[in-house]
Amino acid sequence: MDRQDSTARMDPTVRSWLLSIPIVAPVLRVGASCIRVGTQAVRRRVHDEWVAPLVVQIGALEREIGRLVERLEEAEAERQSLVGRQQEFEEIRFGATAPRPGAETPAPPETLRWRVVGTRDLEAYLRAGRQSVEDISQALRSVGRELSEFSSVLDFGCGCGRTICWLPRTMRLHGSDIDAEAIGWCRVNLPWAEFDVNEELPPLAYEAETFDLVYALSVFTHLDEDHQFRWLAELNRVTKPGGLVLVSIRGKRFLDEMPPERRAEVERTGLEFVESDFWTGVFPDWYQTTNHTEEYVRSRYRGYFELLGYLPLGLAGQQDFVVLRRDATGGAELPSSTAATEADLGFGGRSQEPRLAP
Ligand SMILES: C[S@@+](CC[C@H](N)C(=O)[O-])C[C@H]1O[C@@H](n2cnc3c(N)ncnc32)[C@H](O)[C@@H]1O
Repeated sequence: MDRQDSTARMDPTVRSWLLSIPIVAPVLRVGASCIRVGTQAVRRRVHDEWVAPLVVQIGALEREIGRLVERLEEAEAERQSLVGRQQEFEEIRFGATAPRPGAETPAPPETLRWRVVGTRDLEAYLRAGRQSVEDISQALRSVGRELSEFSSVLDFGCGCGRTICWLPRTMRLHGSDIDAEAIGWCRVNLPWAEFDVNEELPPLAYEAETFDLVYALSVFTHLDEDHQFRWLAELNRVTKPGGLVLVSIRGKRFLDEMPPERRAEVERTGLEFVESDFWTGVFPDWYQTTNHTEEYVRSRYRGYFELLGYLPLGLAGQQDFVVLRRDATGGAELPSSTAATEADLGFGGRSQEPRLAP
């Protein structure tokens, strides 16, 4: 059987497929190559229009990120250098082993902090302590002296050590207060300084002429006249001849805020002792709030000390700061009683109107 016969005997559909192969195959080949060309064109286009710009953008982003990382590294180096300089500055300023309260030394508990600054905010408490040292330095500078010149220091009414904890440990530091709980805390937590509890009235636990610098921050702002004079005499006793005593008082700011009639009265009397129950259960009854006029301080304190400087708002921009010096010979005769000085100078006052601030 020849080939023609077998083709003739095939299924007609199969036969027509077989016969069409020589025509269809070249068409399919052309189609396939068109698809290949088209795919390549699409690929090229996608690459040119999408991928290539993206690659360029990614490259630019990488360079930008590199620059940012460099700037961050520079900023970090700058920050570290600033921290180093701040530490150097603090070491010069506060002494090589100065503590960092709140960081390397514990901060007092909230109740003790509240008693001394009237805020429970730890940061504010720490800031206020540092500011007090700043203000003490400034007050000393205003009379031509530097904190670094003093070696034995008493913080009278130190509370829980808000200020003394920032002083250089190279000094001989003492703190005294009626608040036994605060002193107990100081003894445990600020062991480089010495602390004592004192009574409502003198004496202190120290020998005469022990300190070349004494300060009382926000203490005379709570004493009546009699307590005030007794403590001025006692501070005189424990200060070395020629030594300085800094005392803060509620003066200018508190007078400025008073209604005119009350202010006129305080200006007439010179001292206003304001009693209220604000501190009941916290401090003894004799611990109240006292406002002074500058004139009063200038005339009444000179019986105990030479007044070297008076800085309105010199303590934290709130209280006035008084810079006193003990007579250089140590031989000054002190007033023996409140009554005598009151009669001499015509001051003295007492008010029941409550008005409080720590
Ligand atoms: C407002 S606080 C100030 C505490 C500290 N000076 C400060 O600035 O953080 C008043 C402090 O004075 C103390 N104080 C009041 N009368 C005192 C006295 N007669 N003798 C010792 N301390 C006294 C109180 O116990 C209290 O700690």
